Amino acid sequence: MQFQNIIRVIPDFPAEGISFKDITTLLKDGPAFRQAVDCLAAEFAGQHIDLVAGPEARGFVIGAPMAYALGAGFVPIRKPGKLPAAVLHHEYSLEYGVDALEIHQDAILPGQKVLIVDDLLATGGTTKAVISMVEQLGGEVVGLGFLIELLFLHGRTGLDNYKVKSLVQY
Ligand code: PRP
Repeated sequence: MQFQNIIRVIPDFPAEGISFKDITTLLKDGPAFRQAVDCLAAEFAGQHIDLVAGPEARGFVIGAPMAYALGAGFVPIRKPGKLPAAVLHHEYSLEYGVDALEIHQDAILPGQKVLIVDDLLATGGTTKAVISMVEQLGGEVVGLGFLIELLFLHGRTGLDNYKVKSLVQY
C-alpha cells in the first residue's frame, strides 16, 4: 500500500512554509490503518519487547496498536500535569523555548526492553527526550518506530546507537 497517497499534506499549517503531514486521513481508513500498524510492527517482530512507550498525543494513536500487535504493554508519556502517580518530569529544548514531558516513575522496571513509537520523527527532539526518560528509569531502548520521517530535518542525527524504522519518508 502506498501510505504516502493516503496521508494528506496541508500547506502552511500550523505556520507559513510548513507542509503539515495530516495522518487523520490514514487513521480513518480502516484497512490502511491496520496495514500501517502491521508493517511497522513487522520491523520489530521477533525481538523481545516488554513495553511500547509513546508520547502524547499522536504517539498514543500509533503506539497503543503497536503494543497490541507485538503483545507488549503500553506506557503513555504525557504532557505535564496529566499523570496521577509519582512522575519523572523531563524538560527539553526546542528551537525557541522549552517543552516538558512526564512518565510515571514505576512505568518501567530496570532492564525492561522498550520500543519507542511515535507518528512522526521530525527534529528528533521529542524522541531524544523520550529515550532519556526511558533510560533514566533503567529501561533498555530496543528500537524506535515512526509512521513518518521528515528526512530534511535530520532527526536521526545522534540516534546511531538505536534501531530506527519509519514507514514513510519525505
Ligand atoms: C509531534 C509529533 C511528534 C513530534 C515530532 O508532536 O507527534 O511527537 O511532534 O517532532 P520532533 O521530532 O521535532 O520532536 P506534537 O508536539 O505536535 O504533539 P501532538 O502529538 O500532541 O500533536
